[in-house]
Amino acid sequence: MNLEYAFNKTVAKAKNISRTRPKSVKSEVYDELQDLMPDEHLPYLMAQGGEHFVFGFDDPKHPDLIYKINVPETLPVVKAQLSGNPERLEKAKEEMKRMINKKREQLAEMRQYFGAEAVPAQQYMVREVPVSKKLVEVLLKDPEGQVEEIESVPALVVVQRRVDMPSDWTISLNGFYPESPKSALAFTKDRVGETIEAGNEILLGGMMSELDRESQLRWVVKMYPELDTVAWRAERDPEFKAKLEDLAYRLVEFTQDTNIPLELAGRDNMVMTKGPKGWTVKLMDVLPMDRYSMNDFKRILAKLSVGGKLNGNEAGVALNILNTIRMVNAIALIADIPERFKVIGLERVTTETWCKEFEQLFKD
Ligand SMILES: Nc1ncnc2c1ncn2[C@@H]1O[C@H](COP(=O)(O)OP(=O)(O)O)[C@@H](O)[C@H]1O
Ligand SMILES: [Mg+2]
Repeated sequence: MNLEYAFNKTVAKAKNISRTRPKSVKSEVYDELQDLMPDEHLPYLMAQGGEHFVFGFDDPKHPDLIYKINVPETLPVVKAQLSGNPERLEKAKEEMKRMINKKREQLAEMRQYFGAEAVPAQQYMVREVPVSKKLVEVLLKDPEGQVEEIESVPALVVVQRRVDMPSDWTISLNGFYPESPKSALAFTKDRVGETIEAGNEILLGGMMSELDRESQLRWVVKMYPELDTVAWRAERDPEFKAKLEDLAYRLVEFTQDTNIPLELAGRDNMVMTKGPKGWTVKLMDVLPMDRYSMNDFKRILAKLSVGGKLNGNEAGVALNILNTIRMVNAIALIADIPERFKVIGLERVTTETWCKEFEQLFKD
């Protein structure tokens, strides 16, 4: 055992750190990762979200670093490596590098619109990470045959500055898809269909709703119960409200100018925290998967408005982007600014059509 490692282990022990499996991680995945983790720097698994395995470090040299392995971007490389076809592997790696360049550009745009302090310092990179046959079998939903022995794979990794999120002073600005049977709305007593209908009218119809602000707010918070805390705080904390207002302007402007549909569905993707300098915004995980853009959404709108049907991929894109539009406008409504993000032609698709098209995503 190397001495430095022994020293660090002792420090971790002295701090009495005991790490347990985060609730979001299946035990078979957790156990497998425990076996794969290197001793160096004392990594531990913090979370598994929709996209990333998120690691922190007990090594006192890296207290404020977070290491995130992007699973969906890495799986094509895993498949290519398993195929034994070197050309395919090269292509998959090239694709990953292209993705990294794109993310870097998008980060630069985000810093411009939201300010550097809102975007945690981070670096996208390709890193060889250890994997096992078993982990790959669990993660690959559609293996192309038998999975062979595999020891490591080039992965898309983001190293990010840790964001301090004190639980009493952190407010998450996310809203999961109300159409999903797993949404917070589905767990309330409110009628789902009626709520989505009203919410869509308010959030997608520009400024067309005839309801007063109070009623609009009530529907929107019903549709996105996650926003209840945000609305509550905005009503009582002027400092928070001022910061939220500023954020809302930037969100509308950013989305309108760049056409980048931010990912606002995931828990804690965008948060506001209060520290010694007051409320600050942190955009931790809002860059969308590159597989879609606002242009795809416009094509989808055109298709639906002439009675076309969406395939599974299009339905997924539509749901993500529709959610972004609604969330940007919900935050604008709560912040009480007049600006809204508008998409021409959106009003031509009814809520019934959207819900029908999304059904295919939530089977099983
Ligand atoms: N920079 C960070 N600092 C502190 N916690 C983080 C950081 N990045 C992510 N996390 C934690 O990990 C969780 C998942 O991270 P995220 O980047 O949103 O991944 P995913 O795309 O898988 O949802 C977050 O909800 C948060 O609790
Ligand atoms: Mg996330």
